[in-house]
Amino acid sequence: MSVSGKISQIAGLATFPPNLMWSAASGMVARKFWRDELSKQGWLNTYRACEFTSELTYNHACYWWHSFKNMREDVRDYLELGSWEGQSSVLAGWLFPKARITAVDWFANPQANDRFDRNTASFSNRLEKIEGTTVDILMRFAGEGRTFDFIYVDADHRFDGVLLDTILSWPLLRKGGYLVWDDYLWMHPAIPHLNPKRAIDAWLASRRDSIDVVFAGHQVCVQKIADDTQITDMAYWN
Ligand SMILES: C[S@@+](CC[C@H](N)C(=O)[O-])C[C@H]1O[C@@H](n2cnc3c(N)ncnc32)[C@H](O)[C@@H]1O
Repeated sequence: MSVSGKISQIAGLATFPPNLMWSAASGMVARKFWRDELSKQGWLNTYRACEFTSELTYNHACYWWHSFKNMREDVRDYLELGSWEGQSSVLAGWLFPKARITAVDWFANPQANDRFDRNTASFSNRLEKIEGTTVDILMRFAGEGRTFDFIYVDADHRFDGVLLDTILSWPLLRKGGYLVWDDYLWMHPAIPHLNPKRAIDAWLASRRDSIDVVFAGHQVCVQKIADDTQITDMAYWN
């Protein structure tokens, strides 16, 4: 990376809220080491055997590796919102060999859908592919009492969409489980509400006592350390 690139990356740290800043700084320093370590694990062979039109979750796989390498078999129920060609499903399928992978997406693009099917064929026996709108599916899961120990949010990138997906995912996440958002730092140059960061920051501030930050960078990961209190404001009205 050029010197000016490094400077702008370091300056970018100032945009992180204080509880993410330390993780973001340490990730920036250690990322190359994590990436080198991951490259020795066979992940690249798995990735290269697939058919992807762009590098997406691949770019952040080293954060997942570093954070979860010592508990790979503990993740049993993985949910992702937004699958496209299956890059994150393939990462999760490889990283969490005992997990059931639940992938929710519109799967509206026929070519991407075909690539998803081909890319995930090697673990189709533990893959649940669900076609639909994330909010509908999350509400259905809530009604069915389904819970997960890992949820990856990477579907609707609008402020409202990220917030809704997060709000509806949180009760489905088991205590001790992990929530990851993609594209924390992505924003549309001209459309202010196309910006996950604002939604994630607002939500994180509301739950600061219920989470531990696991990593932060272009993606953010938190661990759920406490369930929500069941007390609502109605308690004050009785
Ligand atoms: C950025 S891509 C996901 C990339 C994927 N996680 C990966 O690593 O390759 C976003 C996907 O979410 C889908 N999507 C966006 N909003 C959605 C929604 N509200 N419900 C279901 N799918 C949605 C898009 O069609 C697209 O396939």
